[in-house]
Amino acid sequence: MSIVYLILICLPALTMAQNVNLKPYNVTAAVLFLQVDTNMNNNVDKTELHASFLSYDTDGDGRITRHEYTTYVDAHSPALHPLSHALYDIYDVDGDHHLDEHDFDNFYGLMDTDNNGIVSDDEFIKYWEILFVDLEHLHGGGR
Ligand SMILES: *[C@@H]1O[C@H](CO)[C@@H](O)[C@H](O)[C@H]1NC(C)=O
Repeated sequence: MSIVYLILICLPALTMAQNVNLKPYNVTAAVLFLQVDTNMNNNVDKTELHASFLSYDTDGDGRITRHEYTTYVDAHSPALHPLSHALYDIYDVDGDHHLDEHDFDNFYGLMDTDNNGIVSDDEFIKYWEILFVDLEHLHGGGR
């Protein structure tokens, strides 16, 4: 469960975490969803998605550089270093090395698999389950 925080949310208490175990992926994805769905309406909207990235914007300029993102992950959960780079590449949809509104919107679109403008809990969880499987070589799966 704590892995959720390692990925998106600031939780300094997890600094000591060296072991990454994201399995079962559907449960990790479900907990991640609950963290992002702050108004608890069973959908993630764009504002919620954007808000989940705010901790990484350490200089507060509204954009997250790869350096900001990976430095943050390294400081809070060093075991996720390889995963952090892969996630950044996914988030940085336009590949300009800055995460901004444009990228959040694009990433939102990737998760909105039925293209109805809303990312439901099912869509979010399925997306992240697939992502965790795809990136298994970077987080080692369950150990
Ligand atoms: C996760 O998947 C397992 C196996 O399919 C299932 O038994 C379990 O209920 C699922 N858990 C959640 C939270 O969806």
